[in-house]
Amino acid sequence: MKLGDEIQDIDAPELEEVELKKRRISVYSTGALKTAAAIDRLYVNHPGFMQAIQALDRVFQIAGEFEMQQGITIEGPPGTGKTSVYRYFKRTVPASNLFAEGMGIIGVRGIKRTTVGYLIRALLKAYKYPFSSGTEAQLYARRGILIDLIREKGTKILFIDESSAMLTKTSTRSSTQHETDVTDLLREILDECGIGVVLASYGGGASLKHTDNALASRMSVRCALQEFSYDKQWHGLLHAFASQCIEYDLGFIKDRSVGKLIHEATQGNIRDLKRLLTEAVLIATDKAQLTLNAETLGKAFNEVKGRGHESPNPFD
Ligand SMILES: Nc1ncnc2c1ncn2[C@@H]1O[C@H](COP(=O)(O)OP(=O)(O)OP(=O)(O)O)[C@@H](O)[C@H]1O
Ligand SMILES: [Mg+2]
Repeated sequence: MKLGDEIQDIDAPELEEVELKKRRISVYSTGALKTAAAIDRLYVNHPGFMQAIQALDRVFQIAGEFEMQQGITIEGPPGTGKTSVYRYFKRTVPASNLFAEGMGIIGVRGIKRTTVGYLIRALLKAYKYPFSSGTEAQLYARRGILIDLIREKGTKILFIDESSAMLTKTSTRSSTQHETDVTDLLREILDECGIGVVLASYGGGASLKHTDNALASRMSVRCALQEFSYDKQWHGLLHAFASQCIEYDLGFIKDRSVGKLIHEATQGNIRDLKRLLTEAVLIATDKAQLTLNAETLGKAFNEVKGRGHESPNPFD
């Protein structure tokens, strides 16, 4: 059997983002798109995000120095910033002669049926290894090459995004042995290469204990990302967005009553927040408005929710 699943590249934009971008390109001017892109690229160091970045940083520093295995789990609902931890970290890793350029942290994205063959193939591809296709058995046989590559390139962190499915025990045992060996491979990598492994998922960490207790015991650091409650931290987040954004004046969102409405509109989800702000800046820039206002945020809310949505618009 040849593996047919396309590798999901963690560095490529997600499908939803691509669709969103397409719609925006057809509606807004180039100038507006340029300004709004700056907001899209902004990362804010809120406490949960910072904790995860620091955990990666620590593992990055000590990887390879100790025998002890270093594992991190990052859990959080959709849109709370799990993939962003990888993207931000990758962007900020300083160059070093200890590892090959861009190879200090390597990321792959799991799929629903992540077999050990898929994982090996995705990792070989991340290392740009030319022979990354084949059957499960052929790929399984290449795990030694993979381990050599990890060592040779000096990789310090392996980030596995969307890892839930592979960490959840399936009730029916797969027909071939290596289809259930994903966690074995991860353990092997942790033990043999002395690198840090990060598993990001919605809630896979808890089920990992049932799937593979030995791997679970190597995942010593647990980070949790959440939706924001309506409190001081939320206002802190909005302040940080406003002060970090130099391309457009977001001062309006620092107002406490505005912050409350934005929380209602986004339920404290950072993806929804970013979408709303980006859309509002697009609308405002095209109307030559120098700052945001409630009307613009209301229009942006309708746009990001899509036509015919039934959610009440907090800005009305
Ligand atoms: N700390 C942050 N500062 C600014 N923007 C952020 C931050 N964290 C996440 N975002 C933004 O929120 C959006 C969603 O983040 P991300 O894709 O990382 O979430 P996720 O937890 O991986 O979601 P999913 O489970 O759906 O994959 C992205 O547009 C990202 O830029
Ligand atoms: Mg993600």
